[in-house]
Amino acid sequence: MFLLFCCIWAKTTAAGCISVWPSMTVPFVVDPVIEDDSERIIALDNALAHLSRVTCLSFIQRTKEKNFIIFTELSESLPCWDVLSMKGGEQMVNVGGNCLEPVKLPATVTRIFSDCDLQKVQYLYPCPGILPVRPSNCTSIFNRVNNVAASVVPCETEDPDSCPYPTYRNNTLPVGSACSSACDYSGRLLPLLRSFNPRIGVFDHFYTTDTVTDATMTSNGYDEEDPVGYLGMEGPADAFCTCLRPLFRLFHPVINNHFYTSNETERAGAEALGYKFERIEGYCTSEPACGAYMPLSRFFAPLMSDHLYTTAVEEATVLKNTFSGYGFERVECYLWQYETANRACETLLH
Ligand SMILES: *[C@@H]1O[C@H](CO)[C@@H](O)[C@H](O)[C@H]1NC(C)=O
Ligand SMILES: *[C@@H]1O[C@H](CO)[C@@H](O)[C@H](O)[C@H]1NC(C)=O
Ligand SMILES: *[C@@H]1O[C@H](CO)[C@@H](O)[C@H](O)[C@H]1NC(C)=O
Repeated sequence: MFLLFCCIWAKTTAAGCISVWPSMTVPFVVDPVIEDDSERIIALDNALAHLSRVTCLSFIQRTKEKNFIIFTELSESLPCWDVLSMKGGEQMVNVGGNCLEPVKLPATVTRIFSDCDLQKVQYLYPCPGILPVRPSNCTSIFNRVNNVAASVVPCETEDPDSCPYPTYRNNTLPVGSACSSACDYSGRLLPLLRSFNPRIGVFDHFYTTDTVTDATMTSNGYDEEDPVGYLGMEGPADAFCTCLRPLFRLFHPVINNHFYTSNETERAGAEALGYKFERIEGYCTSEPACGAYMPLSRFFAPLMSDHLYTTAVEEATVLKNTFSGYGFERVECYLWQYETANRACETLLH
């Protein structure tokens, strides 16, 4: 039992263990049995696009490669999705029967691979700069007989948490150069709470993800306002999202001003001016990606010494177009709109 466990997870270096695909790239062809079935080919495309997007393993159409995969339909008694190891030569991979259910159109959000599956991929094909996670003792879809977990079944929209990995045949979301993922972030998200103290001499907007601090501020004369969005709680490294930035909170006691920045240089500059660093409030993204698509606009009112941050388009428009006293500085970073990272993708794509 121990030996089996070792060999499933050990990498190429350990004797008798599996061979990984060179350059984390899997050349493949699709058997016409699957190719000609429009529902199954969409489901397969979705599955491969998903793996390519959220892991460092990528699938390419085979041209002349000697070692490649043929996605086909094999007997139900044979394992599904045996794609993680390279066997050499033509390698038949079963995606028939229960291995890949036809997509039911119109599908919105579909779940294909579980956290456990992705951990296994990440362990064998670690993304540069991210520590590989040793897969916990979970059962993944790969190389398993009679798998039903790989179905491409539309999720219940009322329960977005049960559908953590939306996949689409076309990923039309804008993902810039710094970020790897359009829809995914693996950390927890918490609301960034907002409050405001209008008293002369204080006049300060305050933002925090910590409910205890928020309660203290509101009991000390700050009025509760609407939360501005969600911040990530884990970072800056993440298995999916490579463009996370810490949002630093600073405070200047003399001018009574809370200031937030995601820029290290600016943070150092503010400290030199007398601002005290308080904490990292959470993580946001440097560009629209990872399910975080709400720009956090930053304003400053020099007369009042107040920084104001908002994701509300109407508020930003009013501040920009009236004599509000606030000048627009920049988009600080991007926040999530929902507590589940990929939920924005549903809305954006449909
Ligand atoms: C790990 O999985 C094996 C095989 O399914 C099982 O026998 C064992 O009890 C599991 N160990 C833990 C710690 O869950
Ligand atoms: C999907 O991608 C193809 C090829 O890029 C394009 O022709 C097609 O219009 C796209 N479909 C949608 C719904 O975006
Ligand atoms: C950070 O701030 C410094 C100083 O204001 C600026 O020169 C630099 O371009 C900023 N970096 C980013 C990534 O915005």
